[in-house]
Amino acid sequence: VDDDDMQFIKMHEYVSELFHHILMHTNEGAEALNYLLERGFPSDLLKKEKVGLAPKMSSFTKNAILEKGFTEEAAYSAGLLSRNETNFSYYDRFVNRIMIPIKNHQNYIVGFTARSLDGAEPKYLNTPETKVFQKRHLMFNLSDARKSIRSQDEIILMEGHLDVLKVKSLKIENIVGLMGTALSEENINLLNRLASNVTLMFDGDGAGRQATMDIGETLLKYGLNTFVIQLPGGMDPDEYIEKNGGEAFRYLVKNEKRHYIHFLAENLLNESMNNDLAFSQNINILTDLLAFVSDEAIKSRLIMHISEAYDIDKSQIESKLPVRTSQKR
Ligand code: CTP
Ligand code: MN
Ligand code: MN
Ligand code: MN
Ligand code: MN
Repeated sequence: VDDDDMQFIKMHEYVSELFHHILMHTNEGAEALNYLLERGFPSDLLKKEKVGLAPKMSSFTKNAILEKGFTEEAAYSAGLLSRNETNFSYYDRFVNRIMIPIKNHQNYIVGFTARSLDGAEPKYLNTPETKVFQKRHLMFNLSDARKSIRSQDEIILMEGHLDVLKVKSLKIENIVGLMGTALSEENINLLNRLASNVTLMFDGDGAGRQATMDIGETLLKYGLNTFVIQLPGGMDPDEYIEKNGGEAFRYLVKNEKRHYIHFLAENLLNESMNNDLAFSQNINILTDLLAFVSDEAIKSRLIMHISEAYDIDKSQIESKLPVRTSQKR
């Protein structure tokens, strides 16, 4: 952390306090606060997370930053201001949005994800890549979750920042959010050093299922024990909790955890029903992946699941298993 980095961080810590104050204690924030409370985000959580509101003004952040003695150029480099490229004037990047601070691994606020309140696109606007906000190195809530991840040897990974916050309000701590939809090599290295088990709990819609397939494969091949909790009815974790309550959610987390290969087997099953070519290809995909399972007990359980679901002999699967060991690094 050099001086420039520290200046970016100070700006973020400062405006976070302002945004948070506006949300919690002003008339301007009342509507947004009410929106969050109605969605089931309790005010002690909003306080702890310093959730805020960027007001409906084009130079609120700009004026605050200038008053505090920072320059517009610095605030622009830090991703807090945008610049008009014809007359080079600066204006607020975040306007009329709920501001969710994002902390780095040293627990400093280095950026925001900002949800629009009036349907403005994009729904989520993030801090652009800056010197201190490099998405490939960041994961949402990792600094708070680290201790619990270590003690439980498990990371639960989600798509949405609000999902992570809602689950935190249930006192489940080992939750980390993706920054966007991709998982970088740096992210995976980081996760791999913290725990041997990762559980994917993405949105229950098509996009979430696809992300589960892709990211799960990457994690498994990397040597992590990869599990999936699939949410019903297209819901995301936040919606599931609002609809079914915290206890039902806890039950899911405790009892409905499938190995990634089990999840994949069931998701590929449909297309194999009336398609023998797909059937044969899918069996090969699944048996190739089994080579990355180092735990023999789980491997044998997975073989049993596949053999039941696809209605073939276990020996058929076993005979296809490649002679290769897990790539645990
Ligand atoms: N996302 C994004 N840009 C968008 C939409 C989504 O970066 N335009 C990312 C955000 O990190 C978001 C995640 O993808 O948290 C999941 O998106 P979505 O399911 O649409 O949003 P939710 O988190 O469910 O938000 P809400 O419940 O408020 O609609
Ligand atoms: Mn979604
Ligand atoms: Mn949601
Ligand atoms: Mn969602
Ligand atoms: Mn099954």
